[in-house]
Amino acid sequence: MIITIDGPAGSGKSTAARHLAERLGLAYLDTGAMYRAVTLRALRQEVDLTDGDALTHCAAGAALSLRYDDGRLRVLLDGQDVSEAIRSVEVTDNSHYLASTPGVRDVLVALQRRAAGDLGDVVTEGRDQGSVVFPDATVKFFLVADPDVRARRRYDELRAKGQDVGFDAVRDAMAARDRRDAGRDVAPLVRPDGAIEVDTTGLSIEQVIDVLARHVEAAR
Ligand code: DC
Repeated sequence: MIITIDGPAGSGKSTAARHLAERLGLAYLDTGAMYRAVTLRALRQEVDLTDGDALTHCAAGAALSLRYDDGRLRVLLDGQDVSEAIRSVEVTDNSHYLASTPGVRDVLVALQRRAAGDLGDVVTEGRDQGSVVFPDATVKFFLVADPDVRARRRYDELRAKGQDVGFDAVRDAMAARDRRDAGRDVAPLVRPDGAIEVDTTGLSIEQVIDVLARHVEAAR
């Protein structure tokens, strides 16, 4: 069984995917973490972020693995734990270079399909999981939320990690990222065919999980 959850930043998809997987006893795949990890690799190697071939080469050479310790995602890149480093503002702001490079996407899509095959039943989350990577998924969700609410969630998340950011800057960066995600030529963020749209604006995380779990149970 494959369950896909796509949606823009701050729509709650990572939290929803993690909790839904836990409730249903399925594995969880955070594909954004993969884009973040290869972005970090490109930044550390000072790869020209406008050179698609160089970025693809950089992604293809990454030894990347995702594992869970006590329900917490651990991302290993070239043997090093980069779980915290991939959440920096620098990685967030530069990830679109990698995400809009077709060769990089090919590398990561292949990795995602392989990981899902290895994991068995899985909840996978990102921008293109239901539209491109797993078009035949058992259940597909598309999460949306009011832009200010999404920006507030991301702001709270960053502040909780001790990052010194302002709300307006977070909201503006998110709006710019939305435009890039939706407007890029390769795998733009779209509502996948057959996806169930869930607006998480006024919902608690428990309420979101209840809605998603009900749909999954109905499809089982
Ligand atoms: O969801 P996130 O903020 O962790 O995503 C990080 C970056 O990767 C962001 O630029 C969107 C991109 N991404 C993507 O293009 N496709 C995915 N399946 C997941 C993330």
